[in-house]
Amino acid sequence: MSKEVVLSGIRPTGFLHLGNYFGAMRNYVRMQDEYNCYFFVANWHALTTHPDTKELQNSVHRVIAENIACGLDYQKVSLYVQSDVPEIAELYLYLNTMAYKGELEKTTTFKDKVRQQPDNVNAGLLTYPVLMAADILIHRALKVPVGKDQEQHLEMARNFAERFNHRYGDVLPSPQAFNFGSELVKIMSLDGNGKMSKSENQMNTLYLADDDDLIRKKIMKAKTDSGPTQPNSFKPDYIENIFTLLKLVSDQTVVNKFETDFNNCVIRYGDLKKQLAEDMVNFIKPIREQAADIQSNKALLSKIIHQGAEKARASASATLTEVRKAMRLNY
Ligand code: ADP
Ligand code: TRP
Repeated sequence: MSKEVVLSGIRPTGFLHLGNYFGAMRNYVRMQDEYNCYFFVANWHALTTHPDTKELQNSVHRVIAENIACGLDYQKVSLYVQSDVPEIAELYLYLNTMAYKGELEKTTTFKDKVRQQPDNVNAGLLTYPVLMAADILIHRALKVPVGKDQEQHLEMARNFAERFNHRYGDVLPSPQAFNFGSELVKIMSLDGNGKMSKSENQMNTLYLADDDDLIRKKIMKAKTDSGPTQPNSFKPDYIENIFTLLKLVSDQTVVNKFETDFNNCVIRYGDLKKQLAEDMVNFIKPIREQAADIQSNKALLSKIIHQGAEKARASASATLTEVRKAMRLNY
């Protein structure tokens, strides 16, 4: 039996961080054996908010390199760049005729972007969910691992697919957001304000490209307090987050020791952060170094990107043939 198709995309709009790793990339890596996976860099989507392309190539290369350094095997999955697959743009065009101005204007992410960039409310921004639907439907993907903030886009993709099928015949299956239930972690910013993110709050976000000293510095500055005064207290958010990070990168014995110290009100947050900093350095360092190696190897990058595009285009053009046939556009 053929494997189910999984697809996800990351916008190359900044440095990848620990939240992206534990919230997204680690799950991609877990899925690569069981599913037929397509992962891509959404550089067309980036243009809707970042029209200046001076840094774009670098960012695209970094996202590819970091994904491989995190464990994606480019021989197993199709790892490609959106703009290398023009079939997506053709499907986007057809889907645009099934997407209505009213529903696009009501999309939460569109309304957010209008507030953030009132001088650049371009049509690409309005039709962002249509392009995303094309990304997914072009491979007839069934599962799309994404965060909660993308669920509305997934619902729109299902609507566009259903409208297409209703109008032209059954070609496009309905994709579902895929999450890992309780395994889905949200990594908070080190000051406890909001989540780690690509562009905001950079001194409180740990990036996969941060050097050892910067990692130490950021962690030592993480928000703590004077410690619990009652045994077995609840942990405030920012302390819980430090423990979340510790659980992700440290040995169980280390976690147990600090949990016990916390519960007995003898915890020393300085020691906790020192330990976390060292374990985090050991966690990030090999990823950073491997990503840097790949990123400086332009021949390898080019090979990976071409190979990814080839696999993606084979699947995309097969879908497009069916789409054109259904629409009677096959002359
Ligand atoms: P950012 O918010 O940093 O721009 P994206 O929105 O591009 O990140 O998210 C890419 C993927 O990483 C999504 O699947 C999202 O759910 C996940 N992700 C982003 N930030 C976090 C975080 N702080 N904790 C957990 N997962 C995250
Ligand atoms: N919109 C997604 C984000 O901001 C990125 C993305 C673009 C995507 N196309 C996709 C994600 C297709 C999953 C499937 O994170």
